[in-house]
Amino acid sequence: MTESQEKLDEGRKDLIIGNWKMHHTHLEAIQVIQKLSYRLDLADYERVDVGVAPPFTALRSGQTVIEADRLPIHLGAQDTHFAESGAFTGEISAPMLAKLSVRFVIVGHSERREHFGEDDALVNQKAKAVLAAGMTPVVCVGETLEIRESGDTNEWVTGQVAGAIKGIEDLSKLVFAYEPIWAIGTGRTPSTDDAAGVIDVIRAALGDAGDVVRVLYGGSVNAGNIADFMAKRTIDGALVGGASLDPDSFASIVRYWV
Ligand code: 13P
Repeated sequence: MTESQEKLDEGRKDLIIGNWKMHHTHLEAIQVIQKLSYRLDLADYERVDVGVAPPFTALRSGQTVIEADRLPIHLGAQDTHFAESGAFTGEISAPMLAKLSVRFVIVGHSERREHFGEDDALVNQKAKAVLAAGMTPVVCVGETLEIRESGDTNEWVTGQVAGAIKGIEDLSKLVFAYEPIWAIGTGRTPSTDDAAGVIDVIRAALGDAGDVVRVLYGGSVNAGNIADFMAKRTIDGALVGGASLDPDSFASIVRYWV
């Protein structure tokens, strides 16, 4: 049996998501989604679930182009507030995202943890809000270079997972992304063995759900290295930053298997 067949037998279809971060206006987003769709065909979508997470301002346009052209591309958001509504100036709630046909929401990205002070408890509240609104939380975990060098990566990541899942009964609806912070936007990556090892630690921290939850790798993924990561049985896909902004580059990543 091939490794990818084993993943499918465990119900884990490949999932490749573009996290556009604070890039692309709504007009650019329309173009990128359309161009991406021209470069992908049915066989690609059958093999890989494809997602894009544009900034909030482009979600409505993304929804419109995806629905008008009936594209099998999953629309995602990069963050959410945990409350359904309320006096939280500047914030956006999970039910608001769900109304825009958003299917998944990235929570706990290291950039939010670092620049906006998000901790595991907040990530947990956000993951619950996303689930309550019927969407999939894509929970990001990962260590700093300092933690890696001190040999504490596994312990750190296990703690982040435990914090994120507290009180969530059905873990099968979650997706995790292992994103070592030192690999984000740097062109540096862990070896595929290293990444697979930490991802197995994440699976262990999920207990019984560890075999069914999709766990992605993120950090300097590009068209040149994606196939190596995907060759690992435990790695179900990728969360791609910089290399997802250009439709040609992102399509090549999605088509890593061709
Ligand atoms: P890069 O692919 O640009 O390293 O970003 C990774 C990331 O943070 C995706 O969420």
